[in-house]
Amino acid sequence: MSEAKALLRERLLSSRRAMSTPSRETAGRAITRAVLDLPEIAACRTVAAYLSIGTEPPTMHLVRDFCLRGARVVVPVLQEDLDLDWADYVPGTALAQGRRGLQEPESPLLGHGFLAHVDAVIAPALAVDETGMRLGRGGGSYDRALARVPPGCPVVVPLYDGEVLPDVPAEPHDRRVSVAVTPSRVWRF
Ligand SMILES: Nc1ncnc2c1ncn2[C@@H]1O[C@H](COP(=O)(O)OP(=O)(O)OP(=O)(O)O)[C@@H](O)[C@H]1O
Ligand SMILES: [Mg+2]
Repeated sequence: MSEAKALLRERLLSSRRAMSTPSRETAGRAITRAVLDLPEIAACRTVAAYLSIGTEPPTMHLVRDFCLRGARVVVPVLQEDLDLDWADYVPGTALAQGRRGLQEPESPLLGHGFLAHVDAVIAPALAVDETGMRLGRGGGSYDRALARVPPGCPVVVPLYDGEVLPDVPAEPHDRRVSVAVTPSRVWRF
């Protein structure tokens, strides 16, 4: 199983690396617009979102737009055991280099359990399948984190086109998401 996941991750990451920076940015703009238009997200007052790095679908504009709408945005702070703590993101404040290349605020940590208080999660993924089963980068961070969100809380993953697959390898601890947003389509699971 871990080999099947590793092979698929390598294939997905190499497709992302093969995209040009402008095409990733164009995709990021389309994804941002589509996420902001989701009715599930419209009334959210507190959002947990990732700050994109490398070839991930860009979220910087999305996060800023949430803040401009008056939402509280918390972002992950990766712990040594690869579990996620959370901290408030405030546009314009400096970010520090976290573990595994993450950009993280230096504001106080809110605790793992803060996710019980969010209205929506914008989570990273490499792919999801047509039932919403999620494949991540391999730390199990979001499998742990998504177990803590309130029932019914929308979990939205930005993806590039072609990253919603008929099937992804999954283990009992893997979590499903509720919505995937690609530049050309919104998928609800
Ligand atoms: N609830 C959990 N508690 C502790 N370890 C966990 C938990 N869930 C998953 N893990 C561990 O995390 C490792 C990676 O899991 P997996 O391959 O599903 O990562 P992933 O979902 O791709 O990563 P991520 O969630 O960080 O994007 C596995 O060894 C798994 O045992
Ligand atoms: Mg997983």
